[in-house]
Amino acid sequence: MTNLLQIENLSVEYKTRRGIARAVDNVFLNLEENKTLGLAGESGCGKSTLGLSIMRLVPHPGRINEGKILFNLDESLIFEGGSVEKGQIDLMQLDDNQMRAIRGRKLAYIFQDPMTSLNPLIRIGDHFTEIIQAHEEDVKKDEAINRGEEILETLGILPERITDYPHQFSGGMRQRVMIGLGIALRPRLLIADEPTTALDVIVEAQILDELATLKKQFNLSMLLITHNLGVLAQTADDIAIMYTGRVMEIAKTESLFEDPKHPYTQCLLKAVPDVRKPDKTLAWIAGAPPDLIDPIPGCMFRPRCEFAMEICATQPPPLEKLDTGQRVACYLYTKGVSKK
Ligand SMILES: Nc1ncnc2c1ncn2[C@@H]1O[C@H](COP(=O)(O)OP(=O)(O)OP(=O)(O)O)[C@@H](O)[C@H]1O
Ligand code: SF4
Ligand SMILES: [Mg+2]
Repeated sequence: MTNLLQIENLSVEYKTRRGIARAVDNVFLNLEENKTLGLAGESGCGKSTLGLSIMRLVPHPGRINEGKILFNLDESLIFEGGSVEKGQIDLMQLDDNQMRAIRGRKLAYIFQDPMTSLNPLIRIGDHFTEIIQAHEEDVKKDEAINRGEEILETLGILPERITDYPHQFSGGMRQRVMIGLGIALRPRLLIADEPTTALDVIVEAQILDELATLKKQFNLSMLLITHNLGVLAQTADDIAIMYTGRVMEIAKTESLFEDPKHPYTQCLLKAVPDVRKPDKTLAWIAGAPPDLIDPIPGCMFRPRCEFAMEICATQPPPLEKLDTGQRVACYLYTKGVSKK
């Protein structure tokens, strides 16, 4: 399988008045073509920062301070005043114009709250036209509208509603429109940041289903960011669990649910309700993540971990591949380490 995206040693910091918060810390991740990678973890663990880094859109006062974001570009892109050659490229090395060409055409980001991304004064059709014509200048307005109508239909919205304004849609429909605008340029990678968090469970299930259909139809790869592991159970091929900016575990979805290795993953799963097991006792994780501005030495999960050992206070545990295929950053699995 080819890697569409390969993140190596990525670190992102926010420089605040209180000090520097390392929101993404030494992250390595792979996403294969046509696969969905789920990214989960508690609020503030760096999921959105990681997603926005791939777009090179980390908000001020954030900064990517090291790492590679390798993207497998399937065709050369030529635009006024420049180009990007096809092949494996490091997004970190591109200038702003090259990055703008890749965004939209090859990468798309869907934000949690559609109303912040949709202009209330502009009809849905004009949103489609604007996005499509910004990157494909030869496309006429009629053709852009037709494409928009087709996409709306795939997402279960009547094509004639393309003349409506955003406020005329329900929350679920607006989120569908956002997804539609995201895929209007047929990107290779769709980053969906909590795409269903604000919606009720029925609409959430429908939208997840539609995302899966779109993924097949358009040969998309997806990075699905959520704090809800239940959402990933149905949609992700692989799941990465983040904590305090670090990846703690990466595994195939099935393995992660059946045999979670990292103590943090185990705690997260105990907090997921299961409709098939209404008697399941839900457990929350006592304590809160440590302050990113004043991090503790060693494993950041240590104060909340029931298995903490002496070595856990020394260095952060490296992410290591186990014989079972999972990658885990925990000294419980490091060979030759005293388990006391
Ligand atoms: N604009 C900002 N200024 C300063 N620090 C920030 C800013 N945005 C994020 N951070 C820091 O980066 C950390 C990661 O934030 P991020 O939004 O990436 O987390 P998240 O996992 O997406 O959280 P959530 O689930 O709440 O969306 C936060 O804990 C915070 O300390
Ligand atoms: S490294 Fe130590 S503290 Fe961290 S999760 Fe593993 S056992 Fe717990
Ligand atoms: Mg977020």
